[in-house]
Amino acid sequence: MKKNFLNLGKQPIANSFLSSISKKSLKNEYFYRLIMCFDTENFLVSVKNPVNPKIQYTDKYAHRASESLTMLKAFKSAAKKLQKRFKPRKVMEIGSNDGVFLKNFPKKKVIAVEPCKNLANLTKKKFKTYPSFWNKKLSNKISKKHSKVDLIFSSNTISHIPNLKETFESINNILSDRGVLVIEDPSLSSVLKINSYDQFYDEHVYVFSALSISNIVKNYQLKLFDVEKISNHGGSLRYFITKKKNSFKITSRLNKIINEEKRQGLNNFATFKKFAKKVEKSKQKLVALLTTLKKKNKKIISYGATYKSTTVFNYCKIDNKFFHYVTDTTKNKQGKFTPGMHIPILSPEKGFNESVDYAYLGAWNFKKEIMNKEKDYLKRGGRFITHVPRVKIIK
Ligand code: TMP
Repeated sequence: MKKNFLNLGKQPIANSFLSSISKKSLKNEYFYRLIMCFDTENFLVSVKNPVNPKIQYTDKYAHRASESLTMLKAFKSAAKKLQKRFKPRKVMEIGSNDGVFLKNFPKKKVIAVEPCKNLANLTKKKFKTYPSFWNKKLSNKISKKHSKVDLIFSSNTISHIPNLKETFESINNILSDRGVLVIEDPSLSSVLKINSYDQFYDEHVYVFSALSISNIVKNYQLKLFDVEKISNHGGSLRYFITKKKNSFKITSRLNKIINEEKRQGLNNFATFKKFAKKVEKSKQKLVALLTTLKKKNKKIISYGATYKSTTVFNYCKIDNKFFHYVTDTTKNKQGKFTPGMHIPILSPEKGFNESVDYAYLGAWNFKKEIMNKEKDYLKRGGRFITHVPRVKIIK
C-alpha cells in the first residue's frame, strides 16, 4: 500500500528554465503537486503523481553532465572499473546525456539511448545513438540490429522513468545471458541522513534503496547481486543486477548495506513521517536566516541553478526578494529565469563579484569543487549558505 509522507506543494518542472517572464510564458508554465509516498510492500519511495515524460525530456533539456569536473572524473573512473570487472563486448547506456560515460569506451562497442534530441545530436556523430525513450519497442529494435548487450549502464535515469515494469522487462529482453545491468541513482539513505529533500522533484519519480531495488527487480526475472556506495550527488548507490538464473554470488557488501538500511528504518513508514517533520523545520530555519540577512541589507545570491533548487525555492517560497539572482556556468541556463520563482540567472563572470555577501549553495553536491574554486571569495569575507545537512553559514 502506498502512503503519503511529504507534501512539497505546488511545483514547476525542475528543468523548465523560462526564456522570458512575459505574461504569455507565465500563463503557460506547468505546475503540479509534489507529494512523496512510501510503498509499505516493496519499500519504494516515489512521487505520487508523476509528470508526463514528454513534458520533461524535450529538445530544450538543459543538463549537461560534462559541465562539472567532478562528474567528468566520476564517469571516467566508473567506465574504467566496469570495463575491468566485466570486459563487455557491447555497452549500452540508457540516458546517455552528452556522452560523458560512453566516450570512455571504443566507439564501435557502444550504443547510446537518449530521448532529448538536443543531447542525442551531440553524440550521434561520435557513436550509434537512438534519440528515443527507453521502451519495449526500442529494446526489440536494438536487439534485432546489434544482438544482446553485456553491459547496460544507466546513471540517474532509471529513477526518472515512471513505468518500471516496461523498463526492466525491456532490459531483460536485451541483456546477454551473463550480462550485467549497472544503475546509479541518489540513495534514499543519504537523502534522509543529510536532509537533502531537494532530491525530490518531478524527474526523480523514484528514490531507490538497496531494499527497494532488490524487491522490484525480482518481479522481472532479475536479481540484485552487488551494490556500491558512491559519492555522486551527495551520496548515491551503484546497483549491479543480472538475470535471476545466473550464479553470480551475492556480495557481502550488499548484505551489509541492506542491514544498514533496515537499521535506519528504510522499511518502515514511521521513519518517513519523522523525516517530513525535519524537512518542515529546515524550511523554517532557511527562511528565518535569509530574512535576518535581508534585514541587515546583505546581498544574497544563489550559486548553481540546479534542478534541486527548484524544489527548495518553490517549497520555501524563495523569490528575488531574497536572492538578487542565481549564477550558473551552463550557457543555456544563463539569461533565463528559474522555474516557478522566476529569479534571473547570470553567468558567474557577470554575477559572482565583489558585491555578493552570501551565496546559497544550490549546487551543494559539488561543495568540494566549489570551495576549491572560490577560495578568494571566502578569503575576502564572502559566505556560503547551505541547508545540507542542516541550515548553516559556511565560512
Ligand atoms: P546538477 O546538480 O543538477 O548537476 O547541477 C549543477 C549545476 O550547477 C549546473 O547547472 C552547473 C552549476 N555549477 C556552477 O554553476 N558552478 C560550479 O562550480 C559547479 C560545480 C556547478
